[in-house]
Amino acid sequence: MAQDSAATQDSVATHFPQSFLGFLRDNGIDPSIYDVYDGQPRYVRIVRHAQRSSDELRGLVAQIEEDAQCAVTAVDGVAGFLAIADRTVRLAQLRAYRERLVVGMDASSGIAVQALAAAPGHNVLDLCCAPGAKLLYLAETVGDGAAVGADAANVGSVTGVDISPHRIGTCRSLIKRHAGAGRMLVRLYAQDGTVFSAAAPRARWWDPLAARDPGGAARGRQRGAADEPLFAAKLMRTEYACSGGDLYDRVLVDAECTHDGSLAHVHKYGAEWGWGELGARVHCDADMPFLQSRLLENGWRLLRPGGLLVYSTCSLSRLQNEHVLGGFLARHGADEACLEPVFGGGGGGGSGEGCPGPRLRGIATSPAWAPATDDDACATRPGWTRACRARRACLLRA
Ligand SMILES: C[S@@+](CC[C@H](N)C(=O)[O-])C[C@H]1O[C@@H](n2cnc3c(N)ncnc32)[C@H](O)[C@@H]1O
Repeated sequence: MAQDSAATQDSVATHFPQSFLGFLRDNGIDPSIYDVYDGQPRYVRIVRHAQRSSDELRGLVAQIEEDAQCAVTAVDGVAGFLAIADRTVRLAQLRAYRERLVVGMDASSGIAVQALAAAPGHNVLDLCCAPGAKLLYLAETVGDGAAVGADAANVGSVTGVDISPHRIGTCRSLIKRHAGAGRMLVRLYAQDGTVFSAAAPRARWWDPLAARDPGGAARGRQRGAADEPLFAAKLMRTEYACSGGDLYDRVLVDAECTHDGSLAHVHKYGAEWGWGELGARVHCDADMPFLQSRLLENGWRLLRPGGLLVYSTCSLSRLQNEHVLGGFLARHGADEACLEPVFGGGGGGGSGEGCPGPRLRGIATSPAWAPATDDDACATRPGWTRACRARRACLLRA
């Protein structure tokens, strides 16, 4: 008993305002989950992991251990991610970071990208892209400009959209920093993702003959055209000027949310912003799920048949996850979408074959904003469900 009360006193939850505790209670979340933060490692992603030999990777880990003066291990189940045991290690003290061989990125963010199963040659849309950790990872995955001419069939693109011009600027710096000798085929738009409508680059957009389609280049050269990005690699500036275009192979809707599922974010209230602010910030009125639903709908509209969409948030709130996706599924019907586990059934790549239809029907009968119950199909395995079928959506609580 004495031990119990000591544990309770040590818990960070003793600082939480009643409103936040109420939020956790309503969402079936044990407040003690926030206590694990201090023992968490710092995560980094190995840049272009798939292209490195095992000798290279071993050398990289040994070097990071030497610089960080602590153990460094591969993250189980999330390829290309390393956990540095001491979370207080600064990235700048790592040679690997200074040489752009690793970037700071949480493993949970990595899961969101890996669930998207983007591949070389895909045109990917990242609808809430700033500050850009997932955007950069996607850009590496779909191929870079160095491949143009050499392996043109495998040239993909990433289109990043964010409503904040300032945050898009951060994405631009990140992409430029990592483009190196290659040229990352990224376009950035400071636009509202709920109404964004620029098409994906056309097939063979890098081909000057294909780009000479009637009227295309001339029309697109008009400055200020609606689909002119704020930033694009030189190679892409001719493409976006062309008419036509296509739907996207992959869409990531890493939606704006209340961030209550981010341990680092919640702990910042204690360290910087004051615990009193926490309840008000995570209070989720109808506006947030409404915005998230509109982002999801627009992402879906821009996704090609047979494509894959991932919806992810860093909130644990049912309103922002299960109910956004539940409302979406109710609107789109069983012939268009259903749910399956991200790392089960169809696997990370997602064939959609393991898609269990009956779970969709449970969702489809839920009114979009009704209070969640534990029987909700989406809630049966918190964090890891995916809608799939002709086009697929994924719910991640990373
Ligand atoms: C969770 S953050 C995205 C993190 C990002 N995907 C990454 O990995 O770095 C959510 C982003 O959504 C943006 N946002 C909010 N409302 C938006 C809207 N209507 N359209 C596009 N972006 C929006 C915010 O500016 C914010 O940068």
